[in-house]
Amino acid sequence: MSDKLKNVDYGLEKIFEGAQDFLPLLGTDYVELYVGNAKQAAHFYKTAFGFESFAYRGLETGSTDSVSYVIKQDKIKLVLTTPLSSSSPINDHIVKHGDGVKVIALWVDDARKAYEETTKRGAKSYMEPTVESDENGEVVRAGIYTYGETIHMFVERKNYKGDFFPGFVKWESEYNPESKGLKYIDHMVGNVGWGEMNTWVKWYEDVMGFENFLSFDDKQIHTEYSALMSKVMSNGNGRIKFPINEPAEGKKKSQIEEYLDFYEGPGVQHIAVATDDIIDTVSKMRASGVEFLSTPPDEYYKAVPERLMVHNHKLAEDIERLKSLGIMIDADEEGYLLQIFTKPVEDRPTLFFEIIQRMGARGFGAGNFKALFESIEREQEKRGTL
Ligand code: FE2
Repeated sequence: MSDKLKNVDYGLEKIFEGAQDFLPLLGTDYVELYVGNAKQAAHFYKTAFGFESFAYRGLETGSTDSVSYVIKQDKIKLVLTTPLSSSSPINDHIVKHGDGVKVIALWVDDARKAYEETTKRGAKSYMEPTVESDENGEVVRAGIYTYGETIHMFVERKNYKGDFFPGFVKWESEYNPESKGLKYIDHMVGNVGWGEMNTWVKWYEDVMGFENFLSFDDKQIHTEYSALMSKVMSNGNGRIKFPINEPAEGKKKSQIEEYLDFYEGPGVQHIAVATDDIIDTVSKMRASGVEFLSTPPDEYYKAVPERLMVHNHKLAEDIERLKSLGIMIDADEEGYLLQIFTKPVEDRPTLFFEIIQRMGARGFGAGNFKALFESIEREQEKRGTL
């Protein structure tokens, strides 16, 4: 583990020193989910996750095909979209996959160039560069396919002064629950099929100019029953991180296989969102009805001080408080991190969220994988899918 984490430094420095980044990414712009009922989903994310109403597009604004609610919390923008008729192609996506992430939008300075550079390296086009404008200026967007039916949309908004996009109006609501302290998207994880992880690792390297900076094989990520493999891809400035998982053989069904069965193909497994105060965030989310995976056993928490001591870190938080909320702790040479995972946020056991607070560590909680997967297996057991 420690050798691998050293590579985090070397990996990212090498990218900075390397050839000019052909796909400079400024950050995540928005994440769009196709859902069965956007109005109700928006209410859920506002109430349970602390998002605020931000923008809207629907029949009232001249959109006759679909309706979209944009919700926001600090730097995180989620777009919830539902089709308005059976002829909308968005239906096909929902029929097949259920609610899930359709678009991971990336903020760029030049969407035309991003599209050109990636398609010439082999990306399959989803949408050619398209200009949308209103009285606030223009936004240029262009999209490419990544794994499954998931899209990367490049968004250029340097000539736009409005809040979101042309076509959207400000969504004024009288219902404004307080923020839960979620700040930005830390990473987004994709699940791909058997034997496809390296194909997509190579795709992110060749097409997007990303680098693989951490890898975990099935010997590291397994429980008594199931296993998976994972490689973390990062862009040049480290702002965008996409771990890619594939299932591995185990005595029982891998959680990745369960996802692939229910999503009916590859897709986004989880969205990890960062907070500066995970105790406060998780307390508030629990009080608002968010369901988290079960708390690891006592032995897990008993081992924490020693796991931190190995790297000379001292926990600033009260461990009993973390335990009472089910928050997990992992450490590496640079620091530690606190994390917790929600149960799936829709009826199919597919997409879920991770809440993460980084206290110096840049890893992904490898030391927690076993405890985490055992708790997922307890859920799989109940669903009859283990
Ligand atoms: Fe994660």
